Amino acid sequence: MTRPPPLLPFSFQKPRVRTSQPQKVAGPASRMDCTLLLLLSLWALTGTITPQPTRTTESCPQRLLGDERKRTCPRPCKADKDCGSRRQCLCDGQCGLSCVAPGRTCPWPLPPREDSVARLLSPTPSFSALMEVRCKPGFALPSGLDATIRRCQGDRQWSGEEPICAAASPAILTCPLPDDVTSAFGIEGDAAVGTSIRYSCLSGADIVGSSENYCQDNQTWQYPHPICKKVYCEPPREVEQGYVVAVQKTEYEVGFDIHYLCKKNFWLDGPQKVTCLSNGSWSAAPPSCRARCLIPAERSRVMIDGVKRWPFDITDAMVPHGGNVTFYCKHPHQQCSFGATRTCSDGKLQPPACYLEPTWLQYKLFPHRLVSEIEACEAAFVETTF
Ligand SMILES: *[C@@H]1O[C@H](CO)[C@@H](O)[C@H](O)[C@H]1NC(C)=O
Ligand SMILES: *[C@@H]1O[C@H](CO)[C@@H](O)[C@H](O)[C@H]1NC(C)=O
Repeated sequence: MTRPPPLLPFSFQKPRVRTSQPQKVAGPASRMDCTLLLLLSLWALTGTITPQPTRTTESCPQRLLGDERKRTCPRPCKADKDCGSRRQCLCDGQCGLSCVAPGRTCPWPLPPREDSVARLLSPTPSFSALMEVRCKPGFALPSGLDATIRRCQGDRQWSGEEPICAAASPAILTCPLPDDVTSAFGIEGDAAVGTSIRYSCLSGADIVGSSENYCQDNQTWQYPHPICKKVYCEPPREVEQGYVVAVQKTEYEVGFDIHYLCKKNFWLDGPQKVTCLSNGSWSAAPPSCRARCLIPAERSRVMIDGVKRWPFDITDAMVPHGGNVTFYCKHPHQQCSFGATRTCSDGKLQPPACYLEPTWLQYKLFPHRLVSEIEACEAAFVETTF
């Protein structure tokens, strides 16, 4: 004895019987199937009322004869009187009007299956009752749909072949990653069901939210996608006696460079360039523009950078910030000189107290007797005395 062939070769994408829209029918569907389908849907709707199959010939197909009819059909009939006392003349799908005992039931409950769940859509598993077989998450019917409907036939069998839900390819089962997420993040992992992904902000910005997410069995993410915090640097501080070389903005993007310049005769103390870092700070504190110092000597030579020079021979008679100037002082008791060094600090350079500016006469008349020109004292003497 062969298995009953599919009586109603249709499946629902979603068997929502309560909608008034025409049901989507998969596979080869004849006009007859549609009619039946609507009828069955109606029966399913009237769940609390005993299903009362129609007996009108227009809505029941003619018994299909020939090779396509493989199931055992009950005795054909036109009216109840053709069927004796215990049977009624009812529409039995492709068998057409047949003598059916309406109280007979189809197997229920069905043994539990790993790939699908069967659900009775009618109050009892009796003749014409509907059953939905829905694939479990991760499984699908060969048609690609996830559910099908079977009907309890007059031969006490559920219509159609036993549906087989096959495990869907894991490569197909993924959680959605919208464009705005993939464009903002570098994503580690393939978003497959049962796996985790890791996000990193392409902009280098900080992640707000969970940096890891899990793709659940129902193809949804465990957490909402994080967001990349937009990072900006505050406008850089102004520099006295200097310029910030950058377009004026209220905020600067990560990676933006700012250059500093000092006004003429000012010396840049600090970085010439700062960059906006991904944590919103500048790579360095802004520099300072330091003033040069006028050498506070005119008629004496001084030592600058290891060279003994007249101040008027030096450009503008100035030294840069941080520059050292060695002045020559006379030993209090001997005819010899010693050096005393002072450093220029942001425009300020005080000569040492021992330094005496020669008079114009001394300078003009006795240039060789100027302190800067006489013999240097012995080093050992200088060190111990001063
Ligand atoms: C930003 O990052 C730099 C370099 O990594 C670090 O030196 C600085 O302290 C950080 N600033 C803040 C506010 O975290
Ligand atoms: C000036 O002298 C100080 C102390 O000796 C030294 O540290 C500094 O490097 C000198 N500056 C210059 C520009 O040579």
